[in-house]
Amino acid sequence: MQGNSRTVGTNQTGIHDKLDELVARYRTHEHQRPVSEHTQRAFEQFLVWLGDWRGALIIDSCCGVGKSTATLAMRFPHARVVGLDKSELRVDKHIHYQQHTTNYQVFRADVNDFWRLLRQAQNDAAWHIEQHYLLYPNPYPKSAQVQKRWHSGPAMPDLMAIAPKIEVRSNWLLYLQEFARACELYGKPTRIEKVATNEPITPFEEKYLRSGQDCWVLQSY
Ligand SMILES: C[S@@+](CC[C@H](N)C(=O)[O-])C[C@H]1O[C@@H](n2cnc3c(N)ncnc32)[C@H](O)[C@@H]1O
Repeated sequence: MQGNSRTVGTNQTGIHDKLDELVARYRTHEHQRPVSEHTQRAFEQFLVWLGDWRGALIIDSCCGVGKSTATLAMRFPHARVVGLDKSELRVDKHIHYQQHTTNYQVFRADVNDFWRLLRQAQNDAAWHIEQHYLLYPNPYPKSAQVQKRWHSGPAMPDLMAIAPKIEVRSNWLLYLQEFARACELYGKPTRIEKVATNEPITPFEEKYLRSGQDCWVLQSY
């Protein structure tokens, strides 16, 4: 089946000229926004679900319907895998992608808050975050929207603190080039490659690949 997804339209021709300044600014500012009640509740449910788990945790942030969460859970049976998305509608659709494996769970939560809670909890926790996936985050491609992108917004310090390894995918290469630059400012080396697969792991990836678009993957190492 052919897709008809449009390519990302942007008025930016290269890495945003305010990127370094924004990364530096947010790095020294504590995230002030109070944690929303629903994410606090989700975090408590997450801790109950983990119970006395002492092993690896894999986070799939902005997981949408959680197809990737289920796939990652099958791929990494040694770990507990957690899918997070703020959209109730998407999280509720997860049932269609459910896999017969018990090592994962999808929660409705705002990752701005959830990442902060993970960061606060991880030092005293028996579990450790092994890998963080951020697959096809909203690109906010207009130049004026730069602060809405994860790497140049206030959540970046938490995002950088919670996992040693991160994988980000996008159909907008410039998004990942900016992400890579922000990681570099945090001292985290990364590489970017083209996604080469016939088995897309998320609905957005499937949509872009079917439309003949290139998808890209950034991995820290
Ligand atoms: C473009 S979709 C990608 C979904 C999925 N990863 C995929 O590839 O099919 C972006 C997702 O990010 C979620 N999202 C955006 N901001 C979020 C936030 N602050 N907290 C949690 N999820 C968020 C949206 O609800 C949406 O499901």
